[in-house]
Amino acid sequence: MDSQVMPREQLGVCAEGNLHSVYLMFNANEGVESEMRPCVANVAQYIYELADQYSDSAFNGFVAIGANYWDTLYPNARPEQLKPFPAMNKGTREAPAIEYDLFVHIRCDRFDILHLVANEVNQMFEGLVELIDEERGFRFMDARDLTGFVDGTENPKGRSRQEVALVGEEDGTFKGGSYIHVQKFAHNLSKWNRLPVKKQEDVIGRTKVDNIEYASADKPLTSHIKRVNLKDSEGKSMEILRQSMPYGSVKEQGLMFISTCRNSVNFEKMLESMVYGDAEGNHDHLMHFTQALTGSSFFAPSLDFMIAAE
Ligand code: HEM
Repeated sequence: MDSQVMPREQLGVCAEGNLHSVYLMFNANEGVESEMRPCVANVAQYIYELADQYSDSAFNGFVAIGANYWDTLYPNARPEQLKPFPAMNKGTREAPAIEYDLFVHIRCDRFDILHLVANEVNQMFEGLVELIDEERGFRFMDARDLTGFVDGTENPKGRSRQEVALVGEEDGTFKGGSYIHVQKFAHNLSKWNRLPVKKQEDVIGRTKVDNIEYASADKPLTSHIKRVNLKDSEGKSMEILRQSMPYGSVKEQGLMFISTCRNSVNFEKMLESMVYGDAEGNHDHLMHFTQALTGSSFFAPSLDFMIAAE
């Protein structure tokens, strides 16, 4: 492929927020790679085309390949930074790794369309995969997490979403692709809701109702915002694009946390800062109220990579 031409990105990687989402986690059957490659490309192309057909409802999505499955599916080339999920734990704070071979992420402002498409995608993969996990996400109030705090405010905006989320010239074969990290967090909402609002705000580092960032000097070192707002060795902000949404039912509910990024380092450093904390051991107190049930690492290649690799 001409390295000057930007391969077509999968539209769900950088899309703006939606009202609904469906997450499908598959494991592949053994020895089906030669059928899987065209099938994965077909599914990605189908999702890409539906974004036009259902543009009124802002349909979008992507297909991502698990770090542990990548070499089986595409033995000829691997994204430079693709590695298994960086599992970590300290004290009661756990970030376990649960990997899947394929992740299909679809979002739309109409749930009926998503339901139809999810069934269709499952049908397209028939005989090649086992569906291991499925969740449905939803917009809660004015784009709030179930803790009641607005989530996504400091996400990159406009064209900088692409700049943050998509691999560029640094890894030419994978230009237009994205490193994806997913953690299914189950919240302990009864514990959280017993916490006075001011204390909740100290945990996040922003006010609850009107979503105003604390002044720098007022941000506790243990606040979520403080822990994830990182700079690299040159003083540049380390950013990710978050595509998270609340999910679940009365029994189990929380946040499907989804990070998309042009590298895999930024997410890992943030998670380390949350779990291990700084040199003084100031870790993220948000983790006292939520538990990561999964942790999975994927790469969502450009649509053109998948079509060329068929
Ligand atoms: C910011 C919630 C997990 C990275 C925020 C904000 C909320 C929030 C309410 C403030 C508003 C905003 O800017 O979006 C949560 C919840 C989580 C979670 C409920 C899990 C239960 C994570 C994880 C990471 C992360 C695992 C990365 C490893 C970030 C970043 C920001 C942020 C980078 C923006 C910080 C800034 O620049 O101010 N999160 N988050 N979050 N979160 Fe999380």
